[in-house]
Amino acid sequence: MTRQPIVIAHRGASGYRPEHTLAAYRLGIALGADYVEPDLVSTKDGVLVARHEADLTHTTDVAEHPEWVDRLTTKELDGVPVTGWFVEDFTVAELKTLRVVERLRELRPQNCRYDGLYEVPTFDEVLGLVAAESERLGRPIGVYPETKHPAYFAALGLGLEEPLVDALSRHGYVGPDAPVFVQSFEPESLQRVRSRTALPLVQLVSATGRVDLVTSTGLRRVATWADAVGVDKALVRGSSVVDDAHAAGLLVHVWTLRGGVEEALTYLDAGVDGLFTDYPDTTIAARQAH
Ligand code: G3P
Ligand code: CA
Repeated sequence: MTRQPIVIAHRGASGYRPEHTLAAYRLGIALGADYVEPDLVSTKDGVLVARHEADLTHTTDVAEHPEWVDRLTTKELDGVPVTGWFVEDFTVAELKTLRVVERLRELRPQNCRYDGLYEVPTFDEVLGLVAAESERLGRPIGVYPETKHPAYFAALGLGLEEPLVDALSRHGYVGPDAPVFVQSFEPESLQRVRSRTALPLVQLVSATGRVDLVTSTGLRRVATWADAVGVDKALVRGSSVVDDAHAAGLLVHVWTLRGGVEEALTYLDAGVDGLFTDYPDTTIAARQAH
């Protein structure tokens, strides 16, 4: 039996709630997503939390907290100096004093009404929510964590892979059949995860990044350390990436859908095995119509 493509709630149902909050993950599950996607970074005390970037300035109310003004600093991120507050300078207890605000304020004005309501969740809290909702709804719900900026955190002595695998193991996600995919843009991070577990791994490729990994030769190389490629949708349109990846034995998951049913149908027609979406309800409607 052919498995239908999976629908992944990208940063939760981030089209409807501020990304990477328990509210966004809960809504993604309620809308029927098969998996929820937390991007993971590390606090100063080595706790994995769900954030897309190390800089907290634009996704939390940290700038409104006088007690943290001395943590404002300038660091180099991807070769560019950035002034802000950084997750690795806060313990998890300190981080919990902050509240989330919508990052993409023009793209998602409807989410701004939730500013100040939610905490930054730990990965353990995300896994606890997924387990509870899975039990309550009587259906398996998967998790699709991404190690974010793993080399950056490793250079700070805050490796992401060991706490990631430990947390997944604590919550029963072990072995190749667990409803989990671990993803990263950095092959070395996936290889560190592989040395600790047989969980399915996903090599991410952006249209402005390691495009050498999505040539037919590159995909055969990726298949030596990963089970799937997670590709920027710009790499799928008008290309043979899906067929080449399948020929190499890799699944193909595409990101990120923010359009309507028609957009999703384009990628379903291309034969992808999974879709990251900010709007799980729309993507599920497309899957049903396909
Ligand atoms: O992980 C798939 C997709 O989320 C990669 O892009 O920047 O949204 O984490 P980003
Ligand atoms: Ca991601």
